[in-house]
Amino acid sequence: MTDRRNFLKSSSLLIGGLWLSPNIAAARARIAPSDQVRVALIGCRNMGFGILKHHLALPDVRCIALCDVDQNVLEEKLGEIEAATGTRPEGFQDFRKVLERQDIDAVIIGTPDHWHCLIAVAACQAGKDVYVEKPMANSIGECDLIQQAGKRFDRVIQVGQQQRSGQAFIESRDLVKSGHLGKIRKVNIWSNFNYGLGNEKVPNSAVPKGVDYGFWLGPAPQRDFNSNRFHGSWRHFWDYGGGLMSDWGVHLLDMAIWVEENPSAPSRVLTYARNVNTENRDRDTFDTMNVLFSKKDFLINYDMNGGLQTGPYEKPYGIAYVGEKGTLVVNRGGYEIYPEWDGTANAPKCEAKKLEGTKESHNLHVANFVDCIKTRKQTVCPPEAGRIAALHAHIPNIAARVGAEELLWDDAKREFVGNKAANALIWPDYREPWVLPKL
Ligand SMILES: NC(=O)c1ccc[n+]([C@@H]2O[C@H](COP(=O)([O-])OP(=O)(O)OC[C@H]3O[C@@H](n4cnc5c(N)ncnc54)[C@H](O)[C@@H]3O)[C@@H](O)[C@H]2O)c1
Repeated sequence: MTDRRNFLKSSSLLIGGLWLSPNIAAARARIAPSDQVRVALIGCRNMGFGILKHHLALPDVRCIALCDVDQNVLEEKLGEIEAATGTRPEGFQDFRKVLERQDIDAVIIGTPDHWHCLIAVAACQAGKDVYVEKPMANSIGECDLIQQAGKRFDRVIQVGQQQRSGQAFIESRDLVKSGHLGKIRKVNIWSNFNYGLGNEKVPNSAVPKGVDYGFWLGPAPQRDFNSNRFHGSWRHFWDYGGGLMSDWGVHLLDMAIWVEENPSAPSRVLTYARNVNTENRDRDTFDTMNVLFSKKDFLINYDMNGGLQTGPYEKPYGIAYVGEKGTLVVNRGGYEIYPEWDGTANAPKCEAKKLEGTKESHNLHVANFVDCIKTRKQTVCPPEAGRIAALHAHIPNIAARVGAEELLWDDAKREFVGNKAANALIWPDYREPWVLPKL
């Protein structure tokens, strides 16, 4: 474990530029093949490749294959891995061929959200462990399928809600749970990002050379090619993603759910959504949302503004745990406690504390996954945590789409109470030949 921590420390310094330390290659060569975890990446362009790099910063991980439906992305990333490790993984366009390989222990899924379920369930069926990016899936029903598949095939699954591995969030959770802030009455969460507006509209165009666009669409409806609905900006369209709500909402809401005594699905959700900025912007998803989740332990108050970049405490995004003795404000950079003042005792009601300069925690999240592959223990973000966090994003999106300010969710029955239109959005309609996995 000490070795792993040292490697993580040295390797994380290199990621971003010259991203693989020569020490790692030497250390990898000393590890017996039987002790190595062999991974493949499916969906290579952005986040998936970042997560693969964190795997390769561990000496006991090897990359066997890369898979992408865009040949340009695939070639570029194969070349990058070859340059960094001296070994060129095998390239694939069809994930099913990757899953047929017996020499792969685990897959990383870095595709757009509409593909997560099909690939994750097939990977479980093929006996692979799975690191699936967040949100766990693009619909409530598909999240269930991934969870069931993990259980049925006894797979280790890590959902990419990496804040669970972040120092600032772990310390914040521990402070909240220790009672430092007194009873928590409310968790205020905000996410304001310019990119939440989507791109400026552009006309449809020819499918770029080297792209199998039919395969990129997969189970999503057939459409002519438009670059706004493709790499990176697909997240603003319901067919493939859930906008800022599921991009950032899943991460941030997860941090509120994490401090509940019994983390649970929401039962009553109030959603107020608008699309304020539509000027020449290409987007299905909402830019302005306020959502109230009335949970057993406290109220969660989520405030989202695409197109803004500032927010409370001069932070574009964050979480404020509001306790009776003080408020703790946290984001990926650190946390600060703002104590309430006790006028009688003329003293703060709790000790002020501050942590600054913390960073992204993908490397630790990946290390936890690799450890769990070896020990068969549960990851820090298992499927049930991914499902519950995704529910907190999908329910408000469904409410906004069907124009329901209040939605009641019956988690035991896995359905909305008395709202047919909302129930119709629990499952996606897959385009043939793709069918929802049967378990
Ligand atoms: N954890 C985080 O902080 C974080 C941050 C960003 C993105 N993400 C998540 O990562 C995932 C990917 O997002 P992104 O921004 O990297 O998207 P992207 O569009 O940049 O990359 C997706 C890649 O997947 C490929 N692809 C699509 N369908 C495929 C298929 N069937 N088989 C193989 N490859 C396929 C695309 O060609 C593309 O190269 C999403 O689920 C997103 O929500 C997580």
